[in-house]
Amino acid sequence: MVGHNTPNRELFYLGDFDGDIHMIGDAIGRRIDMATEIGETAVLEATGASSVLEILGTTRAMRWFTDEPVPEELIRTLVWAATRAPSAGNSQGWDFLVVTDAEKRRQVGEAIKPLLDRVRASESDPANPHLRPGSLNLMENMHRIPLLLFVCGREVYPRASPRTDMMYSALFGATQNILIAARALGLGAAMTTFHSEFEDTIRQLFGIPDDVYIGALVPIGWPARPFGPVRRKPLSEIVHRDHWSHRDLPDEGSAGQG
Ligand SMILES: Cc1cc2nc3c(=O)[nH]c(=O)nc-3n(C[C@H](O)[C@H](O)[C@H](O)COP(=O)(O)O)c2cc1C
Repeated sequence: MVGHNTPNRELFYLGDFDGDIHMIGDAIGRRIDMATEIGETAVLEATGASSVLEILGTTRAMRWFTDEPVPEELIRTLVWAATRAPSAGNSQGWDFLVVTDAEKRRQVGEAIKPLLDRVRASESDPANPHLRPGSLNLMENMHRIPLLLFVCGREVYPRASPRTDMMYSALFGATQNILIAARALGLGAAMTTFHSEFEDTIRQLFGIPDDVYIGALVPIGWPARPFGPVRRKPLSEIVHRDHWSHRDLPDEGSAGQG
């Protein structure tokens, strides 16, 4: 059943990957190994979550990471998960830029500095809303984050007159899948968009063509802070039953809510 087992590890299965590769990691999701079967239950047990819904309820934007690299097999898993997302007409107008090279990450860290300086300046002004410590930490330590995943895309749908909203819809679904898959693997990740502040530099640095949009920059690594639960509005505030004026969905008992 298992490709090879390593003593003192509680192995778990990660995914099927269209039949070409199977991977497993240990109970804390830090190490990986090869296996030949899959089992969602085992993954969930190993990550401390009891169900996909619990994972949804605890997938916080992670902005604190250790320096430990993300194994290649897990990077592949994350991109695989991203591409399981829906897209209009299954157009799949996405591309993924995986950045792990230390020098490239340093350069991204450099590129973000002017934005960081502006943020720091505005932080010292009490009239400005303050940035979350995590967001600041993310920017300050961008060069140390083991994996930077850029979710990119082209306008491809409908073919006759491609629409930007169709493209972004696919990219954001893919991004959410990355966040959830990362959480399931014990990895932390955050959806970010601040790359737009220094997009020209990023384009040059990585040779991204002009017709390619950069939808999200997802920093990924082993979490240095705990996961979830996420804080969200109560369902009773946002759900309308059968008529906009009627709200009667109870908050109690919603599966997976943290
Ligand atoms: C479109 C979009 C853009 C975002 N941009 C950033 C960003 O630039 N920097 C950041 O730290 N977080 C960013 N986030 C993450 C949100 O701040 C985060 O999801 C939200 O505060 C809820 O926190 P939680 O996911 O931990 O529950 C973004 C999220 C979305 C959906």
